[in-house]
Amino acid sequence: MNELHKTYGPVYTIWLGWTPIVVISGMNLIKTAFNSKNNELMGRPKNSITETLLQSGSDVAFTNHGPVWASLRRVAHSAVRKLAISEKLSDLVDDVVSETTDTMIKTHPIGTPFNPKSFIYANVFNIIASSAFGKRYKFGDKELKYLEQSFEDFRTNTNDLVICDRIPVLKKLPKYANILRKTLQTLKGLSGFVRQQYMDHLETHSSGVVNDFCDALIEAKEESIQEAKESAAALIDTNLSLVIVNIFIAGSDTTQYTLRWILLLMANNTEMQIQMRDEIESVIGDRVATNEDRNECHFVNAFIAEVLRYRNVTPLGLPHVAMSDMQLDKYHIKEGAFVFGNLISVNRDPILWPNPEVFDPKRFLTSDGKFVSNIPGFHPFGIGRRVCIGEKLALADLFFITVRLLKSTNECVFALPTGDGSADLQPDPNILLLSSPKPYEIMLKIR
Ligand code: HEM
Ligand SMILES: *[C@@H]1O[C@H](CO)[C@@H](O)[C@H](O)[C@H]1NC(C)=O
Ligand SMILES: *[C@@H]1O[C@H](CO)[C@@H](O)[C@H](O)[C@H]1NC(C)=O
Repeated sequence: MNELHKTYGPVYTIWLGWTPIVVISGMNLIKTAFNSKNNELMGRPKNSITETLLQSGSDVAFTNHGPVWASLRRVAHSAVRKLAISEKLSDLVDDVVSETTDTMIKTHPIGTPFNPKSFIYANVFNIIASSAFGKRYKFGDKELKYLEQSFEDFRTNTNDLVICDRIPVLKKLPKYANILRKTLQTLKGLSGFVRQQYMDHLETHSSGVVNDFCDALIEAKEESIQEAKESAAALIDTNLSLVIVNIFIAGSDTTQYTLRWILLLMANNTEMQIQMRDEIESVIGDRVATNEDRNECHFVNAFIAEVLRYRNVTPLGLPHVAMSDMQLDKYHIKEGAFVFGNLISVNRDPILWPNPEVFDPKRFLTSDGKFVSNIPGFHPFGIGRRVCIGEKLALADLFFITVRLLKSTNECVFALPTGDGSADLQPDPNILLLSSPKPYEIMLKIR
């Protein structure tokens, strides 16, 4: 789907059952489409997944463009930004990742190949659960396993779920009916669990104290009630608890798949990995990394940015829906169509990026080695009015996780059991809409 524009042009349509799916390629056309002042393409699909999640409430990620979405997005965005720059985040990440990595080293000594997936899950869930609602887990905790299993189950079955929604007659087949029922139950359990965390905070929250997203959203709600803003109506607790679900779901898979790519690409390129380790050693040394350190670790930032460009975990962003007809350039998009912005066509546009299929962090470095990220064509977090609200937080998390992971293993390198340069870098075809590496093994090797 990402490659078809080369054959069929910047806007093409494929059909899933009766639903037209329009894919828009190229930076300028996506900008025109997703920034249009009439907001034609700013809807989101309604399907069994979003119905199960939202029930009768509204959230940020799956609610159509409109005043309710806008006011929820505003408070969610400000809560995310606050947390992303707080010094608490770096301490939290340092603590979580060093604990997980110690377990990883104990259970998988030097020279033993293993799949790092569960450790990545543990890091990401711990960090997101702490940021979102103040929970910390030990590696192997039952609740942590439950979260990992729920995400895995959901991911395995999304393909079938999406197909059933578009071709409803399939739901009559026992195989699909079963998958549908089980997966929606998993999703309901997961979202119920997360929403309960918000409800619990309502009991314990004390005014002025902000430890996590739940606190930040409760504060935002109280502020807007006091100021009697018209947006206050949307900030009811049912809706705010759904925003926590958004942050949890939107933040987890994206961050953990990106980390899987980072680890795989570091193992494939030992020399670059050692360059990162040396930079961390000289800039940060034994201290816990701080926000200031982020501005000095140019190569680490460039490596992470290049991973986001080269193996963007959201190659087609999230689905949009046309809320009304739209004329885009010479193409007509009909109300109700699903619309995707093809981010790969931007992040790997050969006109914007020389040799786009080559992995090269130096693209993000000036000639004197300084990191720059505002390069035209760098859009891993989407384009237009529904662009990701988690960008600052995701970049902070990815930086602090990567740094701590490397610091905790500094006598060694992460290596591929099959040797340097042997990584399979094709995304896993079984995962819909997100790009993840296929399952792989790495090991620690003495430097
Ligand atoms: C590497 C990590 C991440 C990537 C690559 C990423 C990418 C994206 C993309 C491409 C979109 C869709 C844009 C569109 O529909 O046009 C999106 C939406 C969203 N993201 Fe992220 N994201 C990441 C991490 C996060 C995190 C950590 C959070 C939570 C704090 C988050 C929260 C959201 C939300 C709530 C939306 C929906 C916004 C809306 O519909 O208005 N994301 N993200
Ligand atoms: C969420 O907020 C909107 C706007 O006030 C409201 O229409 C909707 O009913 C709310 N959701 C619930 C479950 O009350
Ligand atoms: C993987 O490593 C090999 C050998 O060093 C190199 O030729 C190749 O470019 C690397 N691939 C990526 C995507 O880094």
